[in-house]
Amino acid sequence: VLARFEQWEGVAARDLNLGPDDVVITTGSQQMLYLLSEALLDEGDIVINGAPSYFVYSGLLEVFGVQVRSVVEDEGGMSVDGLSALLERLKAEGDLPRVKLIYIVDYFSNPTGVSLAADRRPRIVELAERCSIDHRIIVFEDAAYRELRYDGPDLPSLKRYDPKNRTVAFTTTFSKPFSPGMKTGWTILPGDLLGPVLRIKGNHDFGSSNFNQHLLDRVIADGSYDGQVTRLREAYRTKRDVMLAALEQHFGRFAGGRCRWIKPAGGLYVWFELPAGMQTGLKSRLFTAAVEEGVLYTPGEFAYTPQPGLTVPRNCVRLSFGVASTQEIREGVSRLARAAARVGVHPA
Ligand SMILES: Cc1ncc(COP(=O)(O)O)c(C=O)c1O
Repeated sequence: VLARFEQWEGVAARDLNLGPDDVVITTGSQQMLYLLSEALLDEGDIVINGAPSYFVYSGLLEVFGVQVRSVVEDEGGMSVDGLSALLERLKAEGDLPRVKLIYIVDYFSNPTGVSLAADRRPRIVELAERCSIDHRIIVFEDAAYRELRYDGPDLPSLKRYDPKNRTVAFTTTFSKPFSPGMKTGWTILPGDLLGPVLRIKGNHDFGSSNFNQHLLDRVIADGSYDGQVTRLREAYRTKRDVMLAALEQHFGRFAGGRCRWIKPAGGLYVWFELPAGMQTGLKSRLFTAAVEEGVLYTPGEFAYTPQPGLTVPRNCVRLSFGVASTQEIREGVSRLARAAARVGVHPA
């Protein structure tokens, strides 16, 4: 996996102070989200994330009794100015010592499909380093969707800007670009975190499936891995385009852009914003109508952790084009439009 990382970054691992011993294989990248959090966080600590953010990780943090502070994301991902202002505020309030992690899904995020802009990457690592006064703030880079790119060139990782291997933990997975059934992920960790993380992992599962790792080693070596990634990219690109076209067909006629969506350059999701004032939550009329029409979406509000000063938009949904066929995607968006019409969302 380190050779793949070198290929992606166009840099030798040793120039980033990395060797094979800095890599941990896990049972999916989700396991590393748990392990690193367990190793670093105590109740009352603070984790900074984007708003919106991967809600399964936010759920984990809630169980740990950790405070989540969010930086609003735009189409370039986490705002550096927003992060800087939040860190300043936490410092002024005396809370900086409790900040342990900055968690960022920086390629085709779940739920928005947005990637962290290239020029923001070195600045976020620098900020974390500058604010690491009496303890280190780790940037937790979740690159789960990195290989599922459909347009444009790859972006350098945050890890690329951490040549001493001290600040960034880079985690990714074979689940998204190859096969979820392998349930195999990998992480490049700062050296001093390896011991604590591996101890917890040992207590959990005594090691991830060795058989799956041999399978992955084989398919990577004989080229079938890259073939599968290419096939999946093509299939998902088509599905994304079908979903975007269906949204245009059914929701494009709303005057003044009252329905908007982000075109993702990769990943599995489209972030869809309904007219302001509309509710999309589990108890909303729209959700009920959608279920009656036989279509499911993920309410956007799941991806926000309520906190003082954060306005949670209630009118967004996450749509996924991963599993459904192109036919089902067309049908699904058309049913969503029927559900929306039933609760009064009509083209102006
Ligand atoms: C952003 C993100 N990170 C991590 C994961 C975990 O994936 P896995 O444990 O299959 O590697 C997911 C799964 O949906 C995800 O969306």
